[in-house]
Amino acid sequence: MALNGKIAVVTGAGLGIGKAITEILLRNGAKVVLLDVNETAGKSLKEAFDKQYGWERTLFLNCDVESEEQIKAAFQKTVETFGGIGILCNNAGILNENEWEKSISINLVGVIRVTYLALEHMNKLTGGRGGVIVNTASLAGLGPLLSCPVYTATKHGVIGFTRAMAVRRVCLKKAFLFLLLVMAESAIPLLDLDCPPNCKGFTGKQCFHVIHCNFNLLITATLFAV
Ligand SMILES: NC(=O)c1ccc[n+]([C@@H]2O[C@H](COP(=O)([O-])OP(=O)(O)OC[C@H]3O[C@@H](n4cnc5c(N)ncnc54)[C@H](O)[C@@H]3O)[C@@H](O)[C@H]2O)c1
Repeated sequence: MALNGKIAVVTGAGLGIGKAITEILLRNGAKVVLLDVNETAGKSLKEAFDKQYGWERTLFLNCDVESEEQIKAAFQKTVETFGGIGILCNNAGILNENEWEKSISINLVGVIRVTYLALEHMNKLTGGRGGVIVNTASLAGLGPLLSCPVYTATKHGVIGFTRAMAVRRVCLKKAFLFLLLVMAESAIPLLDLDCPPNCKGFTGKQCFHVIHCNFNLLITATLFAV
């Protein structure tokens, strides 16, 4: 799938992996709406991207994936500014076992909430043009992460939700593609897009390359986990 000219929305785009995903989308010609609760990080990142890619390529919106109202407003603004939504990256997530209800609310309920609200804009039956939804899971979605039962549960949930939505999409012949991004915990060096020393043969660049060169494959990114 060519990314040039596509309109993407990335949650949790201000820092870390969301920032890296945003940069890759921009580098490949997409326009990106950065959603984050961290206004300082979001605004300074937008300023940096303005210098590199031009101000018209990005939009930063302070948006909490726990708030239906804020997500609806963000999507409305996205459509008004760029004319639609073609790609959604559900990336925002936290690892906080003490605030376990908040973890579930952001990591799992947030993914479901943002997906359903985005589909209202992407659905061809309601004037959308179809699209791609990429959900960020974790190795903790495939097996237990020591001492993190709630994080583990949320990421298992993200994988289950993504798989079920993908199957539903095939059954109902919907024009959506659901992808799952499962990263090794060793994927932190991906942020610099350098080769992680223990990424089992995949370099950071290759990992992301897999994502944007094989958009027609369902769970490409589980490659990271093998
Ligand atoms: N870092 C890793 O090694 C790793 C491994 C596997 C999976 N993941 C997953 O990747 C995703 C990103 O992780 P990261 O390491 O880049 O995290 P990070 O903490 O570096 O960045 C997360 C971003 O999400 C934002 N955010 C937090 N709560 C939010 C909310 N309610 N609404 C909107 N934005 C919110 C934060 O402000 C921050 O900018 C998460 O889903 C995480 O579970 C990370």
